[in-house]
Amino acid sequence: MDLTDVIRTTNACRYYKPDPVPDDALLRVLDAARWGPTGSNKQPIAFVAVKDAGKRRALHDLYQPLWDAIVPRYRSGEAQAGFKPGFIDHVDHFARHLADVPVLIVVACDMTQVTALDANLGRLPLTAGSSVYPAVQNLLLAARNEGLGTTLTTILAMAEKDVQAVLGMPAHMACAAMITLGWPAKPFPKRLRRKPLTELVHLDGWGQAFPGAEAF
Ligand SMILES: Cc1cc2nc3c(=O)[nH]c(=O)nc-3n(C[C@H](O)[C@H](O)[C@H](O)COP(=O)(O)O)c2cc1C
Repeated sequence: MDLTDVIRTTNACRYYKPDPVPDDALLRVLDAARWGPTGSNKQPIAFVAVKDAGKRRALHDLYQPLWDAIVPRYRSGEAQAGFKPGFIDHVDHFARHLADVPVLIVVACDMTQVTALDANLGRLPLTAGSSVYPAVQNLLLAARNEGLGTTLTTILAMAEKDVQAVLGMPAHMACAAMITLGWPAKPFPKRLRRKPLTELVHLDGWGQAFPGAEAF
């Protein structure tokens, strides 16, 4: 596929066919992740590809109560989201059927190998995860290129110790994300809902328009 088409149509896939993902496709997707950049090239990232039905069920059972605790806040409007009205039902369906997705990929990060350079700025540090998510995005794009759907999730980070126990992960390997992977049951979107470029880009200083951005 053309790279721009891949980038523009890699959505959060909420519905999956039950068909298995061949190992060769799964390995190509994981290999793409490996090429992501990391701070000082320390490569602190690892992936546990979970195909085992019992372990997928165990991950679902950790995920579901965390999602159930959050979803009322979305439904009431207390938690802000960029979903279309009613879309939360699809996200809820996704959570309930997580164990049916053929592959769940837990993304692990070696916390002895990462730092948060902005840890002392009096706000939430942003840089701690920055050696992980470029690889994750590579994985999502490579999956799309194979015709596979994905959703990046982070809720399970709240149950990190339990995730480590289910998968036998060492204590220093944090749960950075869990990605669902499978054949999408619905077509990929033609166009994702994203802010216009004019709202995001500034030329040479904040608030200064970038001429030509409106053409995108
Ligand atoms: C950092 C991050 C964390 C996310 N965590 C979750 C999650 O825990 N559960 C979930 O269902 N979706 C999660 N998502 C998926 C987002 O809801 C989704 O990417 C967003 O709504 C855009 O969807 P779209 O690409 O289909 O437009 C997460 C996405 C990102 C980037």
